[in-house]
Amino acid sequence: MKLKHWVVLLGAFASAASAWAAPIVIKFSHVVATDTPKGKAAEYFKKIAEERTHGQVQVQVYPNSQLYKDKEELDALQMGAVQVLAPTFSKFGPLGVKEFEALDLPYLFDDMDMARKVTQGPVGQSLLAKLDAKGIEGLAFWDNAFKQMTANKPLKKPDDFRGMKIRIQSSKVMDAQMRALGANPQVMAFSEVYQALQTGVVDGQDNPYSNIYTQKFFEVQKYLSVTDHGYHAYVLIANKKFWDGLPPNLRSVMDGVVKDTTAYFNQIAAQEEADSLARIKASGRTQIVVLTKDEKLALKKAMLPVYKQVEPRVGKDVLESIYKATG
Ligand code: LMR
Repeated sequence: MKLKHWVVLLGAFASAASAWAAPIVIKFSHVVATDTPKGKAAEYFKKIAEERTHGQVQVQVYPNSQLYKDKEELDALQMGAVQVLAPTFSKFGPLGVKEFEALDLPYLFDDMDMARKVTQGPVGQSLLAKLDAKGIEGLAFWDNAFKQMTANKPLKKPDDFRGMKIRIQSSKVMDAQMRALGANPQVMAFSEVYQALQTGVVDGQDNPYSNIYTQKFFEVQKYLSVTDHGYHAYVLIANKKFWDGLPPNLRSVMDGVVKDTTAYFNQIAAQEEADSLARIKASGRTQIVVLTKDEKLALKKAMLPVYKQVEPRVGKDVLESIYKATG
């Protein structure tokens, strides 16, 4: 066979081979139920990534701590055992990226619009860039909701928290704010919270309605106090070596997937929260206690010393950039 025929044959073989090349697999692990904003966004990420890459990228979603629990998932990402996560910004302290914990400060934001001036602006971008040094690509913030308290008694006044064992995420700012109220904070993986509440290992916890509902915390807590005391958002992250190693054509598609999934998350979150609250109310299993503006103010006042206390940890410059961005 002439050389030119061999070239044609090899070319045909090469294009056939690339069509059948093994897909690039993205393992996306998370700790919440599928029927939550983060769970739905992970499924949306999978759907559009596989559609837009025509199957060259395959996304395997592992919800509800099936694959890894809180701290484990970040270790797994850094080792490359999973490629994408979306932890709350409260979980980056143990990695040594303490600046994210500034966003845990109690009553830092009055509403979602104020929060988005940070998460969707230059301050958020500068926080995401701090993950590079840990081998993590900070891709986006997903703005979820404000956190509420659950316990077997109403939590309306600072004194109501005194002596309570309250489960918190791995955040020194959350630790400080619970201690400022005289409570006893207990760091615990999200997957262990339900059983800890049911058995009394801890007396209470804080989360948005979607987590309180889907994890059934409301079934083992007599009161849900609407404190709106903390902001709850996710940071979509990837293993940096993996993400930077994507073929250029796929990388630009995946950047679009990140952008559109973020828009999807930020668009569904408010309705998901409202639906979860309605389902909790309809269950009749827990009493909803709505705090007045003055009661929230009293809680904020009691926790105000935390702002100064954690400044050395989160960085005065980070705090000042947040204050400037939120005016
Ligand atoms: C938690 O309390 O750990 C949860 O907020 C985690 C999550 O991913 O929503």
